[in-house]
Amino acid sequence: MKVQVYPDYESLSRETASIIASYIRTVPDALVCLASGNTPVKTFGFLVDDVKAGRLSIERCTFVSLDEWIGIGPTIEGSCRQMMDRDFFVPLNINQKNIHFFNGVTGDPQKQCDQINELIRSRKGLDIMLVGIGMNGHIAMNEPGTSFDSQAHVGYLAEETKTVGQKYFARQTVLDQGMTLGLGHLAESKLPILMANGKKKATIVARALSEVPSPDLPASIIQRIPQALTLLDADAASDLS
Ligand code: PGA
Repeated sequence: MKVQVYPDYESLSRETASIIASYIRTVPDALVCLASGNTPVKTFGFLVDDVKAGRLSIERCTFVSLDEWIGIGPTIEGSCRQMMDRDFFVPLNINQKNIHFFNGVTGDPQKQCDQINELIRSRKGLDIMLVGIGMNGHIAMNEPGTSFDSQAHVGYLAEETKTVGQKYFARQTVLDQGMTLGLGHLAESKLPILMANGKKKATIVARALSEVPSPDLPASIIQRIPQALTLLDADAASDLS
């Protein structure tokens, strides 16, 4: 695993976008999973600029959902789908047939997980998997205690996630369970990227990178993934020794 630190959120985002764009230029039909949430928003902005300026084509990519809150519909502000639509899929007018996303309100959640597992298996793993890190060390909705081998599954959210997750919603929202890709998917992807910015992530980032890897701290799996990149801004890296 390689750790790279950039001076600020802007340069971190520019570099993350550039790494993703370079991969897609080499593998134009890449199977790509991009996290929603606040961390990658600016990275998406740079990718959108690249595509609009003709420096990058993503027409042949297939996009897979990272996670979704169960009970929250795709158009509700704060759903993972709505965030991805707002920042990436809609600005780029991505063809719906190239998007495979969990739906929080329709369909059988376990069946959706099975289908997405099958898609990823049929493609022999994801090409790119971009994830953030939660304040409790979760990756996507893989909460503490989730096996490092996990595939897509339905899981209960940790109390901290239910509280911190309120930041995405306009009003108090009941969050209880989610559908998520697994930690095994991160380990098996060709280009796994863990991204973090801001002082508030410094403690959990330092723990994830220094403690003995354990499912109690899901993000610590990153130490076990030789091809993984951990990309940080200086604030998020400020507790690293
Ligand atoms: P954030 O979420 O990017 O909004 O900080 C990260 C996470 O909880 O995984």
